[in-house]
Amino acid sequence: MTSRVPEIVVEPPGPRAREIIAADENVIMQSFTRWYPLVIKRGYGSVVEDVDGNKYIDFNSGIAVLNIGHNHPKVVERVKSQLEKFIHYSLTDFYYEEAVRAAKTLVDVSPLDDGKAFFTNSGTESIEASIKIARGFFKGTRPYIISFLGAFHGRTYASMSVSASKPVHRARFHPLLPGIIHAPYPNPYRCPFPKLEGDECGDAVISYIEDWLLSKLVDPSEVAAFILEPIQGEGGYVVPPDGFLPKLEKLAKRHDILMIVDEVQTGFARTGRMFAVEHWGVSPDLLAVAKAMGGGLPLGAVIGRRDVMSLPRGSHANTFGGNPVSLAAFSAVIEIIKEERLWERAERLGEKTMRFLRDLYSEVSLIGDVRGKGLMIGVELVKDRRSKDPAIKELAWVLERSFKRGLLVIGAGASTVRIAPPLVIEEELLDKGLNILADVLKEASRRFTTS
Ligand SMILES: Cc1ncc(COP(=O)(O)O)c(C=O)c1O
Repeated sequence: MTSRVPEIVVEPPGPRAREIIAADENVIMQSFTRWYPLVIKRGYGSVVEDVDGNKYIDFNSGIAVLNIGHNHPKVVERVKSQLEKFIHYSLTDFYYEEAVRAAKTLVDVSPLDDGKAFFTNSGTESIEASIKIARGFFKGTRPYIISFLGAFHGRTYASMSVSASKPVHRARFHPLLPGIIHAPYPNPYRCPFPKLEGDECGDAVISYIEDWLLSKLVDPSEVAAFILEPIQGEGGYVVPPDGFLPKLEKLAKRHDILMIVDEVQTGFARTGRMFAVEHWGVSPDLLAVAKAMGGGLPLGAVIGRRDVMSLPRGSHANTFGGNPVSLAAFSAVIEIIKEERLWERAERLGEKTMRFLRDLYSEVSLIGDVRGKGLMIGVELVKDRRSKDPAIKELAWVLERSFKRGLLVIGAGASTVRIAPPLVIEEELLDKGLNILADVLKEASRRFTTS
């Protein structure tokens, strides 16, 4: 089956896809991003089939969700079996053993030595909960949260307020949550402090937080938490310099400020470790997860230090968090990740993919930067390497063209191609997908480069 993929039998969007898109535009609010007109009919492994019979290689994983691939048989079987027992009964008011088992598993695989979990339905809800837990821990005496420019944490009010990756996410919706301060993020390719690179850039950010924000704007004793993605996702797949997270952790500890680490996108083996913070030996006080956790079913969680997970009775809950069907899928996801040692696979295939993409650098002048960890890889496109002007329309063209050739890949940040295939992807399919991307990037370079 895999050798026939990709297979474009009718140029997308085909007739059935066009019909569904028209109906969608008529009945669904169109506030989405949507890069190209894919209308999915089914998925298996790392392959997606559309409603007109076209087959694509999936480098999106339903946006870093399907780490174990589409419709993994173990997930399907576990979900079916739970469906026959009970589908819902809220943890807000009642108990079930499935939740206890899942919480224990989650704490065990997390980088926290000892902790408790709280289940949510999505990434944004995990962030909302983390912020409430952090402020609640200090009983409202520390109103400030320090977040980072370029961050994306979700689209509800608290998560939107700590986000700062694209103005469109926030425009129209003010007033946002008060008490949020944004610090620069040490983007090694575009350091906010001119002329600095690598750890010097990370150190400049730490000094800025310490010498300016915590010295001139707010006293550290007013700050409940730092919140950050260990690798920025939606902001452009940006990996910070190696020293940054450990130094931020040290600074946080010095002032009893909590570290909320958002691993909604990086979690569950995506970056070559079960959680990305493990690359830097950092132990968060609160860890927000979702996306890959439910194998495609809606599920998220906050895992936190036992003493920090202390909101009193009645102060926080939800109807669906820890839904037993989603938790059944989660139990399968963890088993698959462990049995197939998917963090190792992500690391190996990620290194191979980065080598392949870096080799293209000399041939494809559009490529400004290739970066990532494991199978979370960004290829930033620039109009020219000196000015580093983002190649925005070129990115849109590359994504659409890849789609028409049978490769599903989307963007991140202003002009970055984001590569996040299922961690179980067959090497043959990964290679085919990379070859399509290489052809398209070469074509785009010829088409758009004037110098
Ligand atoms: C790092 C990060 N945090 C939070 C979110 C929000 O997750 P959700 O879309 O499930 O609300 C996302 C979604 O892309 C994300 O990448």
